[in-house]
Amino acid sequence: MTDPFASNIESLSKRLPPRLLAPRVGIVCGSGLSNLAESLRDVVLVPYSDLEGFGRSTVPGHKSTLAFGLVGDGEGVPVVAMLGRFHPYEGHSLSTVTYPIRFMAHLGVKDLIITNAAGALNPSLAVGTIVVIHDHIALPLMTGLNPLLGPPTSAKHERFVPLSSAYSRPLRLAAFRTAHALQLSSDSLAEGTYAWVSGPTYETPAEGRFLRAAGADVVGMSTVPEVVAARDEGLNVLVLSLVTNKVVIPDGYRSIKEEVEAELIGRPIERPQTPTVSHEEVLIVGKQKAGVMKDLVAGIIASLRNA
Ligand code: 6GU
Repeated sequence: MTDPFASNIESLSKRLPPRLLAPRVGIVCGSGLSNLAESLRDVVLVPYSDLEGFGRSTVPGHKSTLAFGLVGDGEGVPVVAMLGRFHPYEGHSLSTVTYPIRFMAHLGVKDLIITNAAGALNPSLAVGTIVVIHDHIALPLMTGLNPLLGPPTSAKHERFVPLSSAYSRPLRLAAFRTAHALQLSSDSLAEGTYAWVSGPTYETPAEGRFLRAAGADVVGMSTVPEVVAARDEGLNVLVLSLVTNKVVIPDGYRSIKEEVEAELIGRPIERPQTPTVSHEEVLIVGKQKAGVMKDLVAGIIASLRNA
């Protein structure tokens, strides 16, 4: 079998100027956030279908294209952005989900900025907040859905990859400094822990309470496999989660027995319907806040030039 890295690099070298072929920063664009590519100059788009080893993204709001370009004034910083990612819930294997991350590392990417849409478990997080992730809880990783199961996966591969400082402190500092420089309001950027669930079902109320009690601030169906592969490849990682909805966590089970008994004595209890989350809602908030996310990511990348 031919090495897919080598054949992809050969086909890219025919389409890209040398500087774009050696990106310094990688970006993964989450649901509704593909506009991040608008901050790139001299863009060259390469559909995943032109590359080996890439799957096809099947989720509405996700494209299936790499965007190469420059960010920032002057010489600019060469970057590669994934417009559309792969999730295990689409039926993609974890090796397909993480392949683009390994490919970006192979191209020379050092810093990886991953964005996603997430539900807020922490009641103090408003819809539209961008959460700078500093840790994660990943039940699937702990119970057997881990992209590093099996033989060595990268040149740098360690058998037991530490994740205690997976989320780069310098990149998190850069995120908050950039938000300040852009004069974003203080509550537009927060910090928190991401809970990864495999999806495609959203959480039940009891699962939401469980993840919140375990210390998670937001929950989503992506990102963590990419973080694991990026750490395996030695990349610095920044994760930005856009809160697109609040996870409804009623404080406990509302007794139906009690409700019927109250009805029988003529004192019915008013109980609001439990609202449910929809992917449309996720995409709408993604669109509304996409501009802020774009400016933030571009500002962070421009600040890395001097780092
Ligand atoms: Cl509420 N849950 C999960 N698992 N993923 C999400 C979400 C919720 N909102 C956006 N993505």
